[in-house]
Amino acid sequence: MTAEQERRQSQLAFIASGAELEIGRPTDCPLPLEQLAATQGDEAYVRERFSGGLTAHVYRIEADGRDWTLKRARERCLVQNPDGQTSFLNELQRRADLRQLKRDARLGKRLGAIVDTQYASLNRGILLSPWIAGDAVSEWNERQLLDLFDVLGALLLGGLFEWDLCPGNTLDDGRIRLFDFGYMYRFDPLRQFNSNGTATPQFHAAERFETRQYFAHLLRLEQHGDSLALAAFRLEKQIALLAYQRLHHELNSQGASSGVLDWLSAIMKDWCGALSGDLEGLYLREAWRSHNLDLHDDLSGQTCTPLTLQRIDWLERTAQRRYADLQRLAVFGDTSLSAATLVNEFAEARQLAQQWQIQNSP
Ligand SMILES: Nc1ncnc2c1ncn2[C@@H]1O[C@H](COP(=O)(O)OP(=O)(O)O)[C@@H](O)[C@H]1O
Ligand SMILES: [Mg+2]
Repeated sequence: MTAEQERRQSQLAFIASGAELEIGRPTDCPLPLEQLAATQGDEAYVRERFSGGLTAHVYRIEADGRDWTLKRARERCLVQNPDGQTSFLNELQRRADLRQLKRDARLGKRLGAIVDTQYASLNRGILLSPWIAGDAVSEWNERQLLDLFDVLGALLLGGLFEWDLCPGNTLDDGRIRLFDFGYMYRFDPLRQFNSNGTATPQFHAAERFETRQYFAHLLRLEQHGDSLALAAFRLEKQIALLAYQRLHHELNSQGASSGVLDWLSAIMKDWCGALSGDLEGLYLREAWRSHNLDLHDDLSGQTCTPLTLQRIDWLERTAQRRYADLQRLAVFGDTSLSAATLVNEFAEARQLAQQWQIQNSP
Protein backbone atom coordinates (compact mmCIF):
# COMPACT_ATOMS: atom_id res chain seq x y z
CA MET A 1 0.00 0.00 0.00
CA THR A 2 1.29 3.48 -0.79
CA ALA A 3 1.73 6.12 1.91
CA GLU A 4 -1.26 7.93 0.47
CA GLN A 5 -3.51 4.85 0.55
CA GLU A 6 -2.47 4.12 4.13
CA ARG A 7 -3.33 7.61 5.25
CA ARG A 8 -6.71 7.50 3.50
CA GLN A 9 -7.56 4.14 4.98
CA SER A 10 -6.70 5.13 8.53
CA GLN A 11 -8.62 8.41 8.20
CA LEU A 12 -11.70 6.66 6.85
CA ALA A 13 -11.45 4.12 9.70
CA PHE A 14 -11.13 6.96 12.22
CA ILE A 15 -14.31 8.56 10.91
CA ALA A 16 -16.17 5.23 10.83
CA SER A 17 -15.19 4.57 14.46
CA GLY A 18 -16.97 7.72 15.60
CA ALA A 19 -13.99 8.62 17.80
CA GLU A 20 -13.70 12.19 19.00
CA LEU A 21 -10.80 14.46 18.25
CA GLU A 22 -10.82 17.55 20.41
CA ILE A 23 -8.37 20.44 20.57
CA GLY A 24 -8.57 22.66 23.64
CA ARG A 25 -11.49 22.54 26.09
CA PRO A 26 -15.10 23.65 25.70
CA THR A 27 -14.42 26.39 28.26
CA ASP A 28 -11.93 27.92 25.80
CA CYS A 29 -14.89 28.87 23.60
CA PRO A 30 -16.22 32.43 23.81
CA LEU A 31 -19.79 31.10 23.29
CA PRO A 32 -21.44 27.87 24.50
CA LEU A 33 -20.45 24.89 22.37
CA GLU A 34 -24.05 23.99 21.49
CA GLN A 35 -24.60 27.47 20.20
CA LEU A 36 -21.46 27.41 18.05
CA ALA A 37 -22.33 24.00 16.65
CA ALA A 38 -25.85 25.11 15.73
CA THR A 39 -24.76 28.32 13.99
CA GLN A 40 -26.64 28.88 10.74
CA GLY A 41 -25.37 32.30 9.77
CA ASP A 42 -28.33 34.55 10.62
CA GLU A 43 -27.50 34.96 14.32
CA ALA A 44 -26.66 38.37 15.75
CA TYR A 45 -23.10 37.30 16.60
CA VAL A 46 -22.35 36.36 12.96
CA ARG A 47 -20.67 39.28 11.20
CA GLU A 48 -19.86 37.66 7.87
CA ARG A 49 -20.28 34.34 6.12
CA PHE A 50 -18.08 32.80 3.45
CA SER A 51 -19.58 30.59 0.84
CA GLY A 52 -16.23 29.95 -0.88
CA GLY A 53 -15.22 27.04 1.33
CA LEU A 54 -15.88 23.57 -0.04
CA THR A 55 -15.30 21.62 3.18
CA ALA A 56 -17.09 23.78 5.66
CA HIS A 57 -19.39 26.68 6.30
CA VAL A 58 -17.17 29.51 7.43
CA TYR A 59 -18.41 32.38 9.60
CA ARG A 60 -16.78 35.44 11.07
CA ILE A 61 -18.28 35.77 14.51
CA GLU A 62 -17.98 38.32 17.25
CA ALA A 63 -17.79 37.14 20.84
CA ASP A 64 -15.98 38.19 23.99
CA GLY A 65 -15.13 41.52 22.43
CA ARG A 66 -13.20 40.13 19.48
CA ASP A 67 -13.62 38.39 16.14
CA TRP A 68 -13.24 34.70 15.49
CA THR A 69 -13.53 32.37 12.55
CA LEU A 70 -15.94 29.52 13.03
CA LYS A 71 -15.63 26.64 10.59
CA ARG A 72 -18.55 24.24 10.70
CA ALA A 73 -18.10 21.02 8.75
CA ARG A 74 -20.49 20.41 5.87
CA GLU A 75 -22.52 17.22 6.00
CA ARG A 76 -20.72 16.26 2.85
CA CYS A 77 -17.66 18.01 1.51
CA LEU A 78 -18.31 19.41 -1.97
CA VAL A 79 -15.05 17.95 -3.25
CA GLN A 80 -16.03 14.59 -4.72
CA ASN A 81 -13.06 12.41 -3.81
CA PRO A 82 -11.81 10.54 -0.71
CA ASP A 83 -9.41 13.32 0.31
CA GLY A 84 -12.25 15.80 0.16
CA GLN A 85 -14.45 13.57 2.29
CA THR A 86 -11.80 13.31 5.03
CA SER A 87 -10.55 16.89 4.81
CA PHE A 88 -12.26 18.15 7.98
CA LEU A 89 -10.77 15.34 10.07
CA ASN A 90 -7.45 15.96 8.36
CA GLU A 91 -7.57 19.64 9.19
CA LEU A 92 -8.15 18.88 12.87
CA GLN A 93 -5.32 16.36 12.91
CA ARG A 94 -2.97 18.93 11.39
CA ARG A 95 -4.16 21.64 13.79
CA ALA A 96 -3.13 19.32 16.62
CA ASP A 97 0.28 18.75 14.98
CA LEU A 98 0.73 22.47 14.41
CA ARG A 99 -0.11 23.29 18.00
CA GLN A 100 2.80 21.07 19.04
CA LEU A 101 5.13 22.38 16.38
CA LYS A 102 4.48 26.00 17.28
CA ARG A 103 6.00 25.21 20.67
CA ASP A 104 9.18 23.92 19.02
CA ALA A 105 12.13 26.16 19.92
CA ARG A 106 13.65 25.83 16.46
CA LEU A 107 10.57 26.32 14.30
CA GLY A 108 8.05 28.10 16.54
CA LYS A 109 8.95 31.62 15.48
CA ARG A 110 8.74 30.86 11.78
CA LEU A 111 5.34 29.28 12.36
CA GLY A 112 3.84 32.45 13.83
CA ALA A 113 2.20 32.86 10.42
CA ILE A 114 0.11 29.76 11.05
CA VAL A 115 -3.24 30.55 12.60
CA ASP A 116 -3.85 29.35 16.19
CA THR A 117 -6.60 26.95 17.12
CA GLN A 118 -8.82 28.16 19.93
CA TYR A 119 -11.00 25.06 20.04
CA ALA A 120 -12.00 22.20 17.76
CA SER A 121 -14.21 19.12 17.97
CA LEU A 122 -14.60 16.51 15.27
CA ASN A 123 -17.84 15.10 16.61
CA ARG A 124 -19.43 18.50 16.85
CA GLY A 125 -17.94 19.50 13.51
CA ILE A 126 -16.57 22.82 14.68
CA LEU A 127 -13.25 24.59 14.51
CA LEU A 128 -12.68 27.98 16.10
CA SER A 129 -9.71 30.23 15.29
CA PRO A 130 -8.87 33.88 15.85
CA TRP A 131 -10.08 36.00 12.95
CA ILE A 132 -7.30 37.15 10.61
CA ALA A 133 -7.93 40.75 9.63
CA GLY A 134 -6.21 40.39 6.29
CA ASP A 135 -6.72 40.57 2.56
CA ALA A 136 -6.39 38.08 -0.23
CA VAL A 137 -3.10 38.42 -2.07
CA SER A 138 -3.41 39.62 -5.62
CA GLU A 139 0.04 40.78 -6.67
CA TRP A 140 2.61 38.79 -4.64
CA ASN A 141 5.35 41.30 -3.95
CA GLU A 142 8.82 40.44 -2.69
CA ARG A 143 7.94 40.65 1.02
CA GLN A 144 4.93 38.39 0.55
CA LEU A 145 6.92 35.79 -1.38
CA LEU A 146 9.71 35.85 1.23
CA ASP A 147 7.11 35.38 4.00
CA LEU A 148 5.41 32.52 2.21
CA PHE A 149 8.56 30.58 1.41
CA ASP A 150 9.84 31.09 4.94
CA VAL A 151 6.76 29.50 6.48
CA LEU A 152 6.71 26.75 3.85
CA GLY A 153 10.33 25.91 4.68
CA ALA A 154 9.49 25.69 8.39
CA LEU A 155 6.50 23.44 7.67
CA LEU A 156 8.63 21.10 5.58
CA LEU A 157 11.27 20.88 8.31
CA GLY A 158 8.45 20.14 10.75
CA GLY A 159 7.31 17.25 8.55
CA LEU A 160 4.18 18.85 7.09
CA PHE A 161 3.46 19.12 3.39
CA GLU A 162 0.78 21.56 2.24
CA TRP A 163 -0.85 20.62 -1.06
CA ASP A 164 -3.50 23.29 -1.45
CA LEU A 165 -1.84 26.71 -1.63
CA CYS A 166 -4.74 28.17 -3.58
CA PRO A 167 -5.64 31.89 -3.41
CA GLY A 168 -8.48 31.20 -0.94
CA ASN A 169 -5.97 29.74 1.51
CA THR A 170 -3.53 32.64 1.87
CA LEU A 171 -4.23 35.95 3.58
CA ASP A 172 -2.02 38.95 4.25
CA ASP A 173 -2.49 40.99 7.44
CA GLY A 174 1.00 42.46 7.35
CA ARG A 175 2.46 39.01 7.00
CA ILE A 176 1.35 36.04 4.96
CA ARG A 177 -0.95 33.78 6.96
CA LEU A 178 -2.01 30.18 6.44
CA PHE A 179 -5.20 28.88 8.06
CA ASP A 180 -6.68 26.02 5.98
CA PHE A 181 -5.05 22.64 6.47
CA GLY A 182 -7.59 20.31 4.89
CA TYR A 183 -4.96 19.02 2.47
CA MET A 184 -1.82 19.23 4.55
CA TYR A 185 -0.29 15.83 5.24
CA ARG A 186 2.57 14.49 7.32
CA PHE A 187 5.77 13.18 5.80
CA ASP A 188 9.38 12.50 6.76
CA PRO A 189 11.40 15.40 5.32
CA LEU A 190 14.70 13.56 5.84
CA ARG A 191 13.69 10.63 3.66
CA GLN A 192 10.69 11.62 1.60
CA PHE A 193 9.91 14.29 -0.98
CA ASN A 194 6.33 14.82 0.11
CA SER A 195 3.47 12.86 1.67
CA ASN A 196 3.62 10.35 -1.21
CA GLY A 197 7.04 9.21 0.00
CA THR A 198 9.42 9.17 -2.97
CA ALA A 199 6.79 8.16 -5.53
CA THR A 200 6.04 11.65 -6.88
CA PRO A 201 9.19 13.80 -7.00
CA GLN A 202 7.45 16.34 -9.23
CA PHE A 203 5.50 17.71 -6.23
CA HIS A 204 7.28 20.13 -3.91
CA ALA A 205 6.49 23.36 -2.10
CA ALA A 206 7.29 25.81 -4.91
CA GLU A 207 5.50 23.60 -7.41
CA ARG A 208 2.38 23.55 -5.18
CA PHE A 209 2.36 27.33 -4.91
CA GLU A 210 2.94 27.79 -8.63
CA THR A 211 0.34 25.20 -9.59
CA ARG A 212 -2.43 26.19 -7.20
CA GLN A 213 -1.96 29.92 -7.32
CA TYR A 214 1.01 31.71 -8.82
CA PHE A 215 0.48 30.72 -12.43
CA ALA A 216 -3.09 31.97 -12.26
CA HIS A 217 -1.58 35.32 -11.25
CA LEU A 218 0.98 35.08 -14.07
CA LEU A 219 -1.81 34.25 -16.49
CA ARG A 220 -3.42 37.58 -15.61
CA LEU A 221 -0.08 39.36 -15.97
CA GLU A 222 0.43 37.84 -19.42
CA GLN A 223 -2.55 39.87 -20.57
CA HIS A 224 -0.54 43.00 -19.84
CA GLY A 225 2.58 41.70 -21.52
CA ASP A 226 4.85 38.68 -21.40
CA SER A 227 7.78 40.66 -20.00
CA LEU A 228 5.75 41.60 -16.93
CA ALA A 229 4.85 37.96 -16.30
CA LEU A 230 8.45 36.87 -16.86
CA ALA A 231 9.76 39.44 -14.36
CA ALA A 232 7.28 38.25 -11.73
CA PHE A 233 8.32 34.66 -12.45
CA ARG A 234 11.99 35.61 -12.02
CA LEU A 235 11.29 37.18 -8.63
CA GLU A 236 9.40 34.13 -7.42
CA LYS A 237 12.09 31.72 -8.63
CA GLN A 238 14.86 33.74 -6.99
CA ILE A 239 13.04 33.68 -3.67
CA ALA A 240 12.13 30.00 -3.99
CA LEU A 241 15.78 29.26 -4.76
CA LEU A 242 16.95 31.06 -1.61
CA ALA A 243 14.40 29.14 0.45
CA TYR A 244 15.45 25.81 -1.07
CA GLN A 245 19.14 26.55 -0.45
CA ARG A 246 18.35 27.17 3.20
CA LEU A 247 16.17 24.07 3.36
CA HIS A 248 18.90 21.96 1.78
CA HIS A 249 21.36 23.24 4.37
CA GLU A 250 19.01 22.53 7.27
CA LEU A 251 18.04 19.06 6.02
CA ASN A 252 21.69 18.25 5.45
CA SER A 253 22.63 19.20 8.99
CA GLN A 254 19.84 17.00 10.29
CA GLY A 255 21.14 13.99 8.40
CA ALA A 256 18.74 13.82 5.45
CA SER A 257 19.23 10.99 2.96
CA SER A 258 21.25 11.59 -0.20
CA GLY A 259 18.07 10.81 -2.15
CA VAL A 260 16.35 13.88 -0.69
CA LEU A 261 19.42 16.13 -0.85
CA ASP A 262 20.21 15.19 -4.46
CA TRP A 263 16.60 15.67 -5.48
CA LEU A 264 16.58 19.20 -4.03
CA SER A 265 19.97 19.95 -5.60
CA ALA A 266 18.71 18.92 -9.03
CA ILE A 267 15.71 21.25 -8.74
CA MET A 268 17.95 24.13 -7.67
CA LYS A 269 20.43 23.45 -10.46
CA ASP A 270 17.62 23.57 -13.01
CA TRP A 271 16.41 26.93 -11.66
CA CYS A 272 19.93 28.39 -11.38
CA GLY A 273 20.63 27.50 -14.99
CA ALA A 274 17.41 29.11 -16.14
CA LEU A 275 17.89 32.24 -14.03
CA SER A 276 21.19 32.88 -15.77
CA GLY A 277 20.06 31.60 -19.18
CA ASP A 278 16.78 30.48 -20.74
CA LEU A 279 14.27 31.73 -18.18
CA GLU A 280 11.52 31.83 -20.79
CA GLY A 281 12.01 28.10 -21.41
CA LEU A 282 11.57 27.38 -17.70
CA TYR A 283 8.49 29.62 -17.65
CA LEU A 284 6.94 27.62 -20.46
CA ARG A 285 7.72 24.30 -18.78
CA GLU A 286 6.42 25.34 -15.35
CA ALA A 287 3.36 27.03 -16.81
CA TRP A 288 2.51 23.94 -18.86
CA ARG A 289 2.92 21.73 -15.79
CA SER A 290 1.01 24.06 -13.47
CA HIS A 291 -2.00 24.57 -15.72
CA ASN A 292 -2.21 20.86 -16.53
CA LEU A 293 -1.97 19.76 -12.90
CA ASP A 294 -4.44 22.30 -11.65
CA LEU A 295 -6.85 21.41 -14.43
CA HIS A 296 -6.56 17.78 -13.42
CA ASP A 297 -7.24 18.68 -9.75
CA ASP A 298 -10.34 20.63 -10.70
CA LEU A 299 -11.67 17.87 -12.95
CA SER A 300 -11.00 15.09 -10.44
CA GLY A 301 -12.78 17.00 -7.67
CA GLN A 302 -15.52 18.10 -10.11
CA THR A 303 -14.93 21.60 -8.80
CA CYS A 304 -14.37 23.83 -11.82
CA THR A 305 -14.47 27.61 -12.02
CA PRO A 306 -14.05 30.26 -14.72
CA LEU A 307 -10.31 30.05 -14.01
CA THR A 308 -10.34 26.38 -15.04
CA LEU A 309 -11.62 27.50 -18.43
CA GLN A 310 -8.92 30.16 -18.74
CA ARG A 311 -6.27 27.57 -17.98
CA ILE A 312 -7.71 25.33 -20.70
CA ASP A 313 -7.60 28.23 -23.15
CA TRP A 314 -3.94 28.82 -22.33
CA LEU A 315 -3.08 25.14 -22.74
CA GLU A 316 -4.90 24.85 -26.04
CA ARG A 317 -3.35 28.03 -27.41
CA THR A 318 0.12 26.95 -26.32
CA ALA A 319 -0.27 23.47 -27.84
CA GLN A 320 -1.21 25.09 -31.13
CA ARG A 321 1.36 27.86 -31.24
CA ARG A 322 4.34 26.51 -29.35
CA TYR A 323 4.29 22.79 -29.98
CA ALA A 324 7.89 22.68 -31.22
CA ASP A 325 9.12 24.55 -28.12
CA LEU A 326 7.19 22.21 -25.83
CA GLN A 327 8.80 19.24 -27.54
CA ARG A 328 12.26 20.79 -27.31
CA LEU A 329 11.71 21.36 -23.57
CA ALA A 330 10.65 17.72 -23.17
CA VAL A 331 7.42 18.56 -21.35
CA PHE A 332 5.69 15.45 -22.69
CA GLY A 333 8.14 13.04 -21.05
CA ASP A 334 8.17 9.64 -22.72
CA THR A 335 4.83 10.00 -24.43
CA SER A 336 4.77 11.70 -27.79
CA LEU A 337 1.48 13.48 -28.14
CA SER A 338 0.69 15.25 -31.38
CA ALA A 339 -0.54 18.82 -31.28
CA ALA A 340 -3.89 17.65 -32.68
CA THR A 341 -4.31 15.03 -29.92
CA LEU A 342 -3.59 17.67 -27.30
CA VAL A 343 -6.05 20.12 -28.78
CA ASN A 344 -8.72 17.39 -28.80
CA GLU A 345 -8.02 16.56 -25.17
CA PHE A 346 -8.38 20.17 -24.14
CA ALA A 347 -11.64 20.46 -26.04
CA GLU A 348 -12.97 17.49 -24.05
CA ALA A 349 -11.66 18.99 -20.82
CA ARG A 350 -13.48 22.21 -21.65
CA GLN A 351 -16.79 20.38 -21.96
CA LEU A 352 -16.32 18.70 -18.57
CA ALA A 353 -15.16 21.94 -16.96
CA GLN A 354 -18.27 23.69 -18.24
CA GLN A 355 -20.43 20.92 -16.87
CA TRP A 356 -18.73 20.97 -13.46
CA GLN A 357 -18.74 24.67 -12.69
CA ILE A 358 -19.40 24.84 -8.97
CA GLN A 359 -22.29 26.72 -7.56
CA ASN A 360 -21.67 27.14 -3.86
CA SER A 361 -24.68 26.53 -1.72
CA PRO A 362 -24.87 29.05 1.13
N1 LIG B 1 -8.98 32.67 10.51
C1 LIG B 1 -9.48 33.32 9.43
N2 LIG B 1 -9.46 34.67 9.36
C2 LIG B 1 -10.00 35.32 8.32
N3 LIG B 1 -10.60 34.72 7.29
C3 LIG B 1 -10.68 33.37 7.28
C4 LIG B 1 -10.12 32.60 8.34
N4 LIG B 1 -10.35 31.30 8.07
C5 LIG B 1 -11.02 31.29 6.91
N5 LIG B 1 -11.22 32.51 6.42
C6 LIG B 1 -11.94 32.88 5.18
O1 LIG B 1 -12.87 31.86 4.85
C7 LIG B 1 -12.58 31.25 3.60
C8 LIG B 1 -12.78 29.73 3.67
O2 LIG B 1 -12.03 29.20 4.74
P1 LIG B 1 -11.13 27.89 4.59
O3 LIG B 1 -10.52 27.61 5.91
O4 LIG B 1 -10.18 28.07 3.45
O5 LIG B 1 -12.24 26.80 4.24
P2 LIG B 1 -12.29 25.57 3.20
O6 LIG B 1 -11.55 24.44 3.84
O7 LIG B 1 -13.72 25.24 3.05
O8 LIG B 1 -11.61 26.03 1.94
C9 LIG B 1 -11.12 31.64 3.33
O9 LIG B 1 -10.84 31.69 1.94
C10 LIG B 1 -10.98 32.97 4.00
O10 LIG B 1 -11.44 34.00 3.14
MG1 LIG C 1 -9.77 26.88 1.81
